Order: sequence, then structure tokens, then C-alpha cells
Amino acid sequence: MTRIFSGVKPTGHLTLGNYLGAVRRWAEVDQHRADALFCIVDLHALTVDHDPARVLRLSRQAATLLLASGLDPEVCTVFVQSHVDEHARLSYLLECVATDGEMRRMIQYKEKAARERARGGSVRLSLLTYPVLMAADILAYGADEVPVGDDQTQHVELTRDVAVRFNQRYGHTFVVPRATRPEVAARVMNLQEPTSKMGKSDDVGPGVVYLLDEPDAVRRKVARAVTDSGTEVAYDREERPGISNLLEILAACAGGDPEELSGGYTSYGALKKDTADAVVELLRPVQERHKELCADPAEVERVLRDGAARARETARPTVDAAYRAIGLLPAAD
Ligand code: TYM
Repeated sequence: MTRIFSGVKPTGHLTLGNYLGAVRRWAEVDQHRADALFCIVDLHALTVDHDPARVLRLSRQAATLLLASGLDPEVCTVFVQSHVDEHARLSYLLECVATDGEMRRMIQYKEKAARERARGGSVRLSLLTYPVLMAADILAYGADEVPVGDDQTQHVELTRDVAVRFNQRYGHTFVVPRATRPEVAARVMNLQEPTSKMGKSDDVGPGVVYLLDEPDAVRRKVARAVTDSGTEVAYDREERPGISNLLEILAACAGGDPEELSGGYTSYGALKKDTADAVVELLRPVQERHKELCADPAEVERVLRDGAARARETARPTVDAAYRAIGLLPAAD
């Protein structure tokens, strides 16, 4: 059976980008067609300046939102990365396979390190090694597929390279995974800055729609979305990034193809209104379920405990095999 692994990091409130690019697909399709594991990758949230209490809160919130989005613990495994030691255990071995040059070429590292330095801060070593931990997340589970948004493609490519290299040097140990992406909205852009990705840790709050935004806030943000000069509603990501982003969001929420949808509009205002309505309707059931789940935190904890136990069982044989293959003496029982 196909194995799927993916994750979300608790560095901010989950956004419409996370939902359309990844989480919705996990819930609607992936969990039903494969043996799927979905992870709140909390260790990854420690790679930039962080507030411990906030990471803890956001981890709980992300877990609750994944369940509210329809991940069914009877069907898939939902867990927290730091509850399963195999991730960190394998990450070190992969650091001995990946190279310094590969890490420094990662776009997200370059962008985040530059931002950190511009603020006068220092760059954590873990920001550089982040993609190796991500590779460990995926390879520990023998995942065939990794459903992600566009921004993670380079990290999954690196994971493939590391897996192939390890297998060649030390014998076949890892499945070589591939990234899968949604047909539309693989890269939802910031509504205020439509040439940058909508990210949960963005500073530009008004351009980011969060999954828990009230309908009024969603309508306000969409109404104020930066559009392009000109008045014609046309789908062209290069020349019309603002309008194209709205068309993609509308297509992802309400169905249809962004280019075809563009033909139905003669004004930006009408497009914005329909997009806002579609987003509000899409988020409504998630928010309702989130509210119910918040009333029962013990249930969320139970799901995470069971999920971690299942994840450990799945990952351990592969990680043990990697330890043997690379030449480490097995511990006596
Ligand atoms: P993260 O937490 O930034 O994002 C979680 C998922 O949401 C997707 N995504 C988007 N998709 C479309 N438009 C956007 N604006 C947008 N923003 C985010 C991301 O592509 C991702 O699929 N490194 C990963 C977390 C991770 C992981 C893994 C993922 C750690 N280990 C192993 C897969 C497998 C990250 O930072 O995702």
C-alpha cells in the first residue's frame, strides 16, 4: 500500500495557504487512498527565534485544526514529531550523508537566514540543517509520496538525493519519495504582496487569511487585496499576480479552473466578493469542528498519544536498519 507522509510546523496560526496547498488534500483524498501519517513538526519550529509557550500553544492548535479539517484518526496517523525519537535519531545519520553545500543552496535557508541577519539576529545552526531533519521525517516512514505546496518541492528533492546516496553507499535502506502537489493553489500568495507566498510567520498580517479568521476578517482582507493596474479580470500569474491569486483561491474553494472563471467577471469587485464568500464557506465547517474539539482537549491528547505510538512502531525498523547499514554496532538487548 502506498505510504504518505506530510507535516506542518507550528510557527504561526495555520493559513489558507496551508489548507489549500496541503491540509485539505490530506483530509479529502490522501488519508483515504494510502497508509498516511500527518505530523505537527514541532522540532522545526525551533530553528528560528521562538517563544516556548507560543510553540506549545500553536502545536496544540495545529493538532486540533488538522482534526477539525477532517483528518480521521481511525483512518490515518496524526502525531507530534517530538514525541517520536526516530526523527532526531535518523537526522544525525543523514547529516553524515548530506553536504554543507547542499544545505546552503536551499532557497528557504537563504531567505530566512538573510531576514534574520537583516534584523541583526544570529542564524541558528538548526536552520541550516532543517532540510536534513525534514528528510529524516519522510525517510523514517518509508513514504512513497509527500503531499506539499510548491515551496517544499526543493526540500523533497533533497530528500530524494540523500536517500539515493545513502542507498548507494550503504545498501538499500530507504524508499525514494516524491512530492505531490495540488492542481490549483499550490502557491497561495500574500493578498497584500501577491509576489510573495502567503506564510504563517509573515509580518504582513492583513495579507494572510488564517483558518480561524472570523468571516468579517476574511471579507475585509479579501476586499483589500492588492490588485493589479488595469481593470480587466485576466488569469496571468506573471503580469496579473494579484488577480490571478484571487482566481486561484476562488477556483480552489468553489471548484473550476482559474482561467475559465476569469471569463465570468467584468469587475475586480465582483471577483473579490465571490472569492470572500467562497473562502468563508470553505472555512465555516472547519471552524465549527475546531470549536467542538477545543471543548474536549483530552480527546485531542488521546489521538496524539495513540498516533505517536503507531508512528514509533512504523519508523523504528527503518531507522534501526539505517544504523546497522551505516556501520554502528547494535546495542545488546
Ligand atoms: P509549512 O508548515 O510551512 O507548511 C505546511 C504545508 O503547507 C504548504 N503551504 C502552502 N501551500 C500553498 N500556498 C502557500 N502559501 C503555502 N504555505 C504553506 C507547505 O508547502 C506545506 O506542504 N518544511 C515543512 C514542514 C515539514 C514537512 C516535513 C513537510 C517538515 N517535515 C516532511 C512534509 C514532509 C514546512 O515548513 O511546512
